[in-house]
Amino acid sequence: MSYIDPKSATLDFKKYFLNNTSETATEYRSIVAKVAEVVSNQIKSQEKPYSGASPDSLRKLAKSFDFFPNQGTDFDELFEKTSELILKNNISVYHPLCIAHLHCPTFVVSLAAEMIISAFNQSMDSFDQAPAATMIEQELGEAICKLYGFGDESDATFTGGGTMSNFMGLLLARDHYSQQNLSWNIQKQGLPPEASKFRIICSSHAHFTIAQSASILGLGENAVIKIGNESLLEEKKILEKTIIDLKAQGLLPIAYVTTAGTTDYGEIADIEAIVACAKKYNLWIHVDAAYGGSLIFSETHRHRLKGIQQVDSLTIDFHKLFFQPISCGLFIVKNKAMFEYIRLHADYLNPESNEEHGIIDLVSKSIQTTRRFDALKPFLTLQHLGVQKIGQMIDYTIKLANEIAECIKNDPNFELANVPAINTVVFRYTSEEINDLAIENEINNELKMNLLLTGEAIIGQTYLREKAFLKFTLLNPMTESKVIKSLLKNIKNQGNELLKNKMLFGQLQE
Ligand SMILES: Cc1ncc(COP(=O)(O)O)c(C=O)c1O
Repeated sequence: MSYIDPKSATLDFKKYFLNNTSETATEYRSIVAKVAEVVSNQIKSQEKPYSGASPDSLRKLAKSFDFFPNQGTDFDELFEKTSELILKNNISVYHPLCIAHLHCPTFVVSLAAEMIISAFNQSMDSFDQAPAATMIEQELGEAICKLYGFGDESDATFTGGGTMSNFMGLLLARDHYSQQNLSWNIQKQGLPPEASKFRIICSSHAHFTIAQSASILGLGENAVIKIGNESLLEEKKILEKTIIDLKAQGLLPIAYVTTAGTTDYGEIADIEAIVACAKKYNLWIHVDAAYGGSLIFSETHRHRLKGIQQVDSLTIDFHKLFFQPISCGLFIVKNKAMFEYIRLHADYLNPESNEEHGIIDLVSKSIQTTRRFDALKPFLTLQHLGVQKIGQMIDYTIKLANEIAECIKNDPNFELANVPAINTVVFRYTSEEINDLAIENEINNELKMNLLLTGEAIIGQTYLREKAFLKFTLLNPMTESKVIKSLLKNIKNQGNELLKNKMLFGQLQE
């Protein structure tokens, strides 16, 4: 029996919602089929990773919408119009030349999960809004803690990504330091008078969200002490001296943040060495493994995360090297008691009395209230593909990056920044005819921009020792090396052409 009367004339609204009438079921199926067709046709027909539409033309198209129409538009017509603006001008993350960022293609099974997530619209804050989903998220979180080698006291919470997980790590580090060393409860009392002396140490290669977190946490970006310039591997040599120097100045080092997979170079810290040093001084150790954490699924590379189970907290992102649709992140803490620092009870949502009934309300360990059931995506992925296949995909991308780096190394028109640590390749166009760093930088920057604005390739950029570099982020396990080799040829030709023009216009000394 339908709980909504399909014949009711008074409730015309019902056709706009998913509900249990057969009319809606038919409409829902037809729309889903239509969307699936349009999306797959778009991806199939997209020869370049980007249409190359200019920012101006896109703004004009966006402005052509009346954003507050009084009367709605038929779905087909609306879909056509939006696809003209949005679908056709999307970056295709499935294209092998979409290689700027840690921005992955997604598994089909995860897209199925997305449909389930949005259709059922469970909210992870309380059990009574997501009963089965709560249990899957909790159990999967615990299983992932074990996978990394954490003990029974560990726990995890799904987050919107690396930014939020890093923030949570530093939030708990700050509050724990304050409680343990100053008997000061930040949750209740706000920042202690000593807060201006708190220092967070990290490598200069740490993600910018470490400084951002310090700022939001009321410690200020200046509380972040960055060490080591050249490589992440320098940090273990300088860390102890940095801690001693800070203490000698009367400052209070509270945490050390290291990285397993730096954004540009994929470098992975020597976690065991860091732990040995930071623990001596009672520092909270947070590892940002947003990128490299997925190596745990690779039989060949998981040993590179050795020691990770000893750290206090950990950032993992499934929407990077685990091929999930955005967003899907995880925050792990070695000692679940640390979640007490953010635990709050609201009578309407998660009263303490729920616990007597064995009910868990996940809001107690999250800084979000309403939250999507993103855990379903890695859950279904792992069930459908199995760990081995995912590991093989990761291994393939690492091999590919090494092969491409080798080509770059052997070409006098390129300078390779380093041997890929995971699957990013950082390099730059160069020529014997250039003796001016500014011009060389200009050429590399123009190369990136030209490729983007023609839609030929979306590649990354970064700076190292004041030199502009280009970056390939080879996350996509469907990418064949010949496609990247042909892009390299293209970059070299365009670089030579730009150089010739600059010489013609006298920008370079003869
Ligand atoms: C090492 C690292 N940490 C954190 C982040 C931020 O993650 P998110 O974009 O998922 O918030 C990134 C993003 O690329 C990253 O590379």
